[in-house]
Amino acid sequence: MEEQFKAFASQLRRPTNEDGVKTGVHMNEGNKIMNLEAIKAVNPCAHDRILEIGMGNGFFVKNIISIDPTIVYTGCDFSETMIEEAEKMNAEYIKIGSVVFYLASADKLPLKDHSYNKLFTVNTIYFWENPVNTLNEFKRVLTKDGELIIVVRPKHIMENIPVTKYGFTMYSKEELIELLLANNFDVLDTNEIEEPSREVMGKILEFGSLVVHAKQK
Ligand SMILES: C[S@@+](CC[C@H](N)C(=O)[O-])C[C@H]1O[C@@H](n2cnc3c(N)ncnc32)[C@H](O)[C@@H]1O
Repeated sequence: MEEQFKAFASQLRRPTNEDGVKTGVHMNEGNKIMNLEAIKAVNPCAHDRILEIGMGNGFFVKNIISIDPTIVYTGCDFSETMIEEAEKMNAEYIKIGSVVFYLASADKLPLKDHSYNKLFTVNTIYFWENPVNTLNEFKRVLTKDGELIIVVRPKHIMENIPVTKYGFTMYSKEELIELLLANNFDVLDTNEIEEPSREVMGKILEFGSLVVHAKQK
């Protein structure tokens, strides 16, 4: 069982090959509420340039692009499998130039300075090797008054999920706020979302997520 947890944790971190494709589909369902809450917080508007880090298979990109034809969306993910899936799923939007995906790590983005006014990321902070470098990279690509939206399952929820002992760095709400403040972001708002509880390995677990809305100082 522990071997299976380890393998699943590794797929969640970087979905790869056939199992990665299945993990991508599984995440769309399991993380649906979080992704929809993230998009609500991003509040996509005409002429926005939106960057998402770790979009998985890009299933929710349509929920952003369909809001206004002038919105431009870029997705960066360090999984080749997820980039391939996201490109297939969003082929029409790529063709008309509204969407582009790059194979890239969160701390080294192939993007110009100050080129996005909104950046968001859902369920990726657990895997950042160097959060300070990653936040610096976000600052580099964000416009001066750019907004950052981070959505996570907070530590008290994550700790009860068996796979998270394999390579997940977990944050409480307070720790995430502290990390942002220490790295030149102001926190504008936080929103704790309750989700229906889930059964995992015969145990009923509390589920929920946290949306943190920040802005460059
Ligand atoms: C747990 S999945 C979450 C996918 C989707 N955002 C969701 O919430 O359903 C993490 C995704 O982020 C990507 N990822 C993780 N760490 C990353 C990093 N440091 N740089 C770029 N992508 C990363 C993974 O490849 C994967 O597609």
